[in-house]
Amino acid sequence: MKRVAVLGSTGSIGRQAVEVIRANSGSLVVHSLVCNRNVDLLAAQSREFPGAVCGVLDPAASVPAGFLQGAGVTEEAVEGCDIVLNAFTGFAGLRASLLAARLEIPLALANKESLVTGGCLLADHIRKGLLSPVDSEHSTIARCLAGEAVRPLSVTLTASGGALRDLPLSSLADASPGMVLAHPTWSMGPRITVDSATLVNKAFEVIEARWLFPDLPVDAVLHPQSIVHSFVRLADGSWKALTGSPDMRVPIQYALLGGSGEPGLSMSDGPLDWPSLTFGRIDPARYPAYSIVIAAGELGGAAPVAANAADEVAVEAFLAGRIGFGRIPEVIENALGKTGAAPVSSYGDVLRADEEARARSRAFLGERC
Ligand SMILES: NC(=O)c1ccc[n+]([C@@H]2O[C@H](COP(=O)([O-])OP(=O)(O)OC[C@H]3O[C@@H](n4cnc5c(N)ncnc54)[C@H](OP(=O)(O)O)[C@@H]3O)[C@@H](O)[C@H]2O)c1
Repeated sequence: MKRVAVLGSTGSIGRQAVEVIRANSGSLVVHSLVCNRNVDLLAAQSREFPGAVCGVLDPAASVPAGFLQGAGVTEEAVEGCDIVLNAFTGFAGLRASLLAARLEIPLALANKESLVTGGCLLADHIRKGLLSPVDSEHSTIARCLAGEAVRPLSVTLTASGGALRDLPLSSLADASPGMVLAHPTWSMGPRITVDSATLVNKAFEVIEARWLFPDLPVDAVLHPQSIVHSFVRLADGSWKALTGSPDMRVPIQYALLGGSGEPGLSMSDGPLDWPSLTFGRIDPARYPAYSIVIAAGELGGAAPVAANAADEVAVEAFLAGRIGFGRIPEVIENALGKTGAAPVSSYGDVLRADEEARARSRAFLGERC
């Protein structure tokens, strides 16, 4: 039995991970459940898994007796587990990934911000084979490479294009949060759904892929149906891909089971609508933030840290109705213009770059730091 620490158990990925564990009760067991402040859902999950350690990060939340609380909860939650599923959202997830790396615990990683901001600090964990991606694109690439004898040449990530992909360009800047959150193919948390509409999410995934598959060139292509979950090009002239309906339980299960054993959750995928499949180029006029974040990834060092921090500030402001959708790329560009690619070689460096870019982005938006 593999004991799973589910970090972010109340979120979109966390809830699906709990479902996967429930369906694989012969091989997986919930070791711990951690959320930020959704105490009601955590309490319901704890009733289903009475032996699990339960923790709430927010020190101000009102929690039932027996729940752990506060910033140190994650440390206690991973103690004694066999695998950490990191489904925290945002930069806050990096600390948990570094903890898993320090303790040499296998990490099933949904929190892509960990690699975007702290990839250099997780490179050893990747080299040791202790990090399994949960992102569907990276899971696909890992599956295509597993057991493949022919040399891979490059990888191509697929992007749905998000909720605004068919909106006239002239209306993009004024799109409302309601329009942006209505993702056509994936059901996800709010931040990643906004990032899908700007394609910041895809740029983050390109950066993530460069850490996970360091020897391979990475690019991305639009694929609105989200049926083909990425490609690997091989030296014998063939391309490998994984296809299926968009369902995050597939890569979560693969990451938790390590690709071995009979999966407990069998998805009865209906016939796929092959004739509908289309692919297209990423239009820089529709997705200006994509190129900005790709360039930050290429610069490296503090640049991707600043891009992530600025994007978190901008997305929060957009969802709260304080800025329009069209200002998100501006906020990221502003933060990067003043950051440069200062090297980062410790968590302290990353934290400083994150805090500076957040403060700069808030000041740019005229908000108090
Ligand atoms: N959803 C997807 O399909 C998908 C696909 C690929 C990758 N990912 C990645 O997976 C991660 C989680 O995404 P999601 O869609 O599941 O997000 P989500 O639905 O917003 O859930 C986020 C989880 O993190 C917790 N959380 C919120 N703020 C936090 C903080 N400051 N520190 C630590 N934990 C915090 C939340 O707790 P509360 O509920 O208590 O607030 C919740 O459990 C993201 O990095 C995302 O990019 C998601």
